[in-house]
Amino acid sequence: MTADSSSTLQDIFKAITPNSNESDVEKKIVIPLLLTLGYTHADWQSQVVILQSKLDFLVGQSDSVLLTTPYLIIEVKAPNKNIAHSVWQINNYMRRAGAVLGLLTNGYDFRILYNYEEKITQIVEYSRTTLINQYKIFHKILSKKTYLHYTATLYKNQQQIRLHFLKLISQTVQQESTLGFSINSHTSANQIQQPSEKEMLLPETHKEGKSMIITVFNNKGGVGKTTTTINLAAALNKLGKRVLLIDIDAQANLTTGLGIDPLEDVEQQGKKDISHLLTDPRTSVEDTLIHKQWDDVELDIVPSHIRLCDMEATLINTPDIDRILARKLKKYRHKYDYVLIDPPPSFGKANTISLMASSGVLIPTQLAHYPIRALEYVMNRAIAVDQYRDEPLPILGVAVSMYNRAATKVAQSMTNEIFNILSKKPETQNVDLFPQNTWIPNLSIVASTPNKGYPICFAEFDNELSSKDKEAAQDAFDCYMKLAKHLILVTQVKEQANG
Ligand SMILES: Nc1ncnc2c1ncn2[C@@H]1O[C@H](COP(=O)(O)OP(=O)(O)OP(=O)(O)O)[C@@H](O)[C@H]1O
Ligand SMILES: [Mg+2]
Repeated sequence: MTADSSSTLQDIFKAITPNSNESDVEKKIVIPLLLTLGYTHADWQSQVVILQSKLDFLVGQSDSVLLTTPYLIIEVKAPNKNIAHSVWQINNYMRRAGAVLGLLTNGYDFRILYNYEEKITQIVEYSRTTLINQYKIFHKILSKKTYLHYTATLYKNQQQIRLHFLKLISQTVQQESTLGFSINSHTSANQIQQPSEKEMLLPETHKEGKSMIITVFNNKGGVGKTTTTINLAAALNKLGKRVLLIDIDAQANLTTGLGIDPLEDVEQQGKKDISHLLTDPRTSVEDTLIHKQWDDVELDIVPSHIRLCDMEATLINTPDIDRILARKLKKYRHKYDYVLIDPPPSFGKANTISLMASSGVLIPTQLAHYPIRALEYVMNRAIAVDQYRDEPLPILGVAVSMYNRAATKVAQSMTNEIFNILSKKPETQNVDLFPQNTWIPNLSIVASTPNKGYPICFAEFDNELSSKDKEAAQDAFDCYMKLAKHLILVTQVKEQANG
């Protein structure tokens, strides 16, 4: 313990008294401690709801989705609470989230726990004085450096296991067949290169060839469905996920928002669009695909066309129309990790078709009264469709869009309204409002990019934009990245829960 860190800790501890509340402990003790441990604000999420547990802090998940479980969970209590009474709670949370480590504190006492195969063991307990004296050990266990070392080791071991496995396969193939399959036997574990961020994040979620098909759904118009879908797709791809976008809205906003003109780039080129896919049995997903690339982001898109507007009667008369997209997508479920569907703001056939094809529903909303009222109808619709499906249709959560960062009081009352609606029905009591760090702010740069035909991450390459606009675009895209990381976490948890 250096004199410097000793006085830093003393200063941190001075910030609260025995009469302080839990939120004070979070802001004045836990966050400063996390900063001293080398984490930045991007490394943790607060007030995360996972499987009905509200975790005060989830640390080390956002850095890498290579891990299926978070590194550290922190449970915070008010100083007047005896933390011994909350050990069961953090044990429970650690088991549910699969966290490696847990920290339980009331700002005066600190306990570190370790999770090995769901057996939770307390490693060490500190008072403020012993924490100051033994800070070096505390730091060694919980610091970001240790966390990074842990992820790197995990990655390396995983590669070694894969290499070993490949060698076994190679030997078997060489013994059993004449195919001449060979693997460089000189490759050693030491030669394994440290992966780039994209490689680190290569698709782990859907290894078994099943993509997560998500309808981004709200019958209220203009809540940001299309904008969320486009930028979330770009963020998922930046995280190494292979993404297919399906525009099933006659307005074709997603199509044009990605720089595809339905007339020039689709119709006049003799290409097929969503209307053919839905009504022509011979048209496959592949026949409709348009591949787009912006720097390192690559997306496949099934475009839409205004003609879909006049097709409601044809859709209704097409046999088994509700399952048509589900059937046509089946073949492509190994090709994409995420398929995002952007439907129109209505309860027509296009919506039923999308929901029948989906493995989850993401509900975007604004923090305003009417969009929030619409949540109830949206959830009722998802529950109604659920009854006609072979597999359950989970609602993955409510994602906030066009959030006014200055209106914190409005946000508080609107989130209460959302919680009220979610708690009304047994089917939606497990549906979570996504955490605040995933909320997409209302920024004029976001509204201006659909005209440009690119996802907002590409704004940095646009010479027509000022550096201030580029900064705002980066700010917005950071939020979409957090939304994407949270969505990955939620889909992993839902998949695990569904066996
Ligand atoms: N975060 C944001 N900040 C500012 N403007 C936004 C943001 N997100 C979306 N917008 C703008 O709000 C409007 C509605 O967004 P969008 O088209 O994505 O909504 P939608 O729900 O898909 O609409 P529809 O119901 O018509 O399909 C658009 O003009 C869009 O550019
Ligand atoms: Mg739209």
